[in-house]
Amino acid sequence: MQRYQNPSLILESANIKEGKVHWTCPSNIALIKYWGKHGLQLPKNPSISFTLDNAVTTTSVSYVASNDNRISFDFIFNNSRRDDFKPKIQTFLERISVIFPFLKQLHLTIESTNSFPHSTGIASSASSMGALALCLCTLEEKLFGTSMPKNEFYRKASYIARVGSGSASRSVYPVAALWGEFADIKDSSDEYAIPVQDLLHPVFQSFQDHILIVSAEEKSVSSTIGHALMDGNIYADSRYQQAKSRLHFLMPALKSGDLETFGKILEDEALTLHALMMTSNPSYLLMRSGTLSIIEKLRTFRMSTNIPAYFTLDAGPNVHLLFPENYTEIMSDFIQNELSQYCNGNIINDKVGLGPKV
Ligand code: PMV
Repeated sequence: MQRYQNPSLILESANIKEGKVHWTCPSNIALIKYWGKHGLQLPKNPSISFTLDNAVTTTSVSYVASNDNRISFDFIFNNSRRDDFKPKIQTFLERISVIFPFLKQLHLTIESTNSFPHSTGIASSASSMGALALCLCTLEEKLFGTSMPKNEFYRKASYIARVGSGSASRSVYPVAALWGEFADIKDSSDEYAIPVQDLLHPVFQSFQDHILIVSAEEKSVSSTIGHALMDGNIYADSRYQQAKSRLHFLMPALKSGDLETFGKILEDEALTLHALMMTSNPSYLLMRSGTLSIIEKLRTFRMSTNIPAYFTLDAGPNVHLLFPENYTEIMSDFIQNELSQYCNGNIINDKVGLGPKV
């Protein structure tokens, strides 16, 4: 937390006016997965993701003066007060209060809505922590009348978001982001993500991600526990090496538009993530029979049509189908006719997006 600590960010209490800031931040889908962490949300290996377009969280933070000298806030999700979400946000705000000491001089009302239904099993921590981090960075600028250069603003927001949820660090940039130190890319860091849109071939800048919701139930093992179980996983060290090696081969494929190499690495990463869950102690399974049916049907379809459509998985049973934009119509027909039976027609059509919006 050294980097952005700033004890001078204290307000003259007589001058605190009330106000409100807003941000909309998208979710993201990892191509190389972050799985395993240390310290305060630092990754054991670098990861890279596409930023999504439709799956977004919109957050507003209203503030008034408070003289309790402690973190004080209410949290409202989809227009209802949600005290059950408060402990996670409380921990986050406490942690970053060394960066934003003025938070203890305010009472905040944090209001969030998701564009995707809450119970879809789509991870919302990336978009919600991303949106909150952006709001807090804007709040600092508004209260102190400062303005950071754009790239520094987003870097700080990424750093703050990372403290809330590792994958959220990647959500504050358009198109694609890389988080974690990686020798091939200058400026990469474990502390914040960096934008990598410029390192992508145009075919990836409009890539589609259609998400098949096999199950909307809450996961039996949370990501927090999953990351922690990596500490005792006998494959952990070779996994961290493997992630770096795959990233080393993925970056040139992203640059040149090599869909075959991209797709192979994408699918290998998804299966590795779930293999790590199956080889944890205790072992657990988040895929469902529908997940496997979709994967097998997709692979058969790809063999017979040569359409470059590939799958990936998050830490859950839902399948992300990624393919170039010009195949959208044929893929939508295939999904409707062959795959929708495995997800009760519960499909979110998303694509690579342009990042957060004020
Ligand atoms: O950011 P977390 O702690 O929710 O972990 C996310 C982990 C994966 O979604 C499975 C992979 C990733 O890199 O996004």
